Amino acid sequence: MRFTIFMGCLALVWGQLPPDIEKCQAGDAICIAKTITHILQSYSKGIPAIGLDAVDAISFENVIVSRKESSKLDLMFHTLTVRGFENTTVLDAKGFDGDSMPRVFELSAFTPLLRLEGEYETQGILLTMPIQGRGQALVELKDCQFRCKVRVVEEHRLDGKRYMEIPKVKCLVDVQSMHINFENLFNNKQLSDTVNELANNNWLEIWKTLRKGINSALDQVAGTILRRVANKVSYDDFYQL
Ligand SMILES: *[C@@H]1O[C@H](CO)[C@@H](O)[C@H](O)[C@H]1NC(C)=O
Repeated sequence: MRFTIFMGCLALVWGQLPPDIEKCQAGDAICIAKTITHILQSYSKGIPAIGLDAVDAISFENVIVSRKESSKLDLMFHTLTVRGFENTTVLDAKGFDGDSMPRVFELSAFTPLLRLEGEYETQGILLTMPIQGRGQALVELKDCQFRCKVRVVEEHRLDGKRYMEIPKVKCLVDVQSMHINFENLFNNKQLSDTVNELANNNWLEIWKTLRKGINSALDQVAGTILRRVANKVSYDDFYQL
């Protein structure tokens, strides 16, 4: 109990960051990239004290990936869990140059493997084939390269500190390869296997169809994670005391 109170005070003093997390000087982009990488990899289950949710499994409902009007294919996930962000390495963090808060910052990152799993529903045209189905889906994205731009607005709070409001996050992702498996297309295993094989042989074409939807899902993930942290940890506590 006493230990808990002691830890609690320590946490307040240190801006609520766990003690093994290195604080960085403003402008030290290498340190900032290293620290974010350390947090993602060592605290994949999250850090409630700083508002960080688990990053090793992120779940959504009702994600629309593609619409017929723009790509001839309706594809949505009723449920979707994304796994693999815990192995992310942040390569670069731009914008944290000085004491003043950036209006935009940019993160580049690499994730070796993302697994997207859930219950899909689809109907439309894929690679000139009419398809339809509903069931379990697995999408694996290999060697994902991210670039996210984050817009920031400074917010002064009653505690005298500056906080970051994040009105907009825009991410771009590129992958080296994609593997998909949609079960139960046409309620038929053999047809499913055939369509999946054809899709995987032409994954780049499929990726081009799904990319926009996957990108905007990522904008939502990144935005949600960053906003929760920015709401708890002030910009002033982000750097060395
Ligand atoms: C993350 O990396 C670890 C260690 O290399 C590996 O065992 C694990 O399967 C990876 N997780 C994912 C989802 O790729």
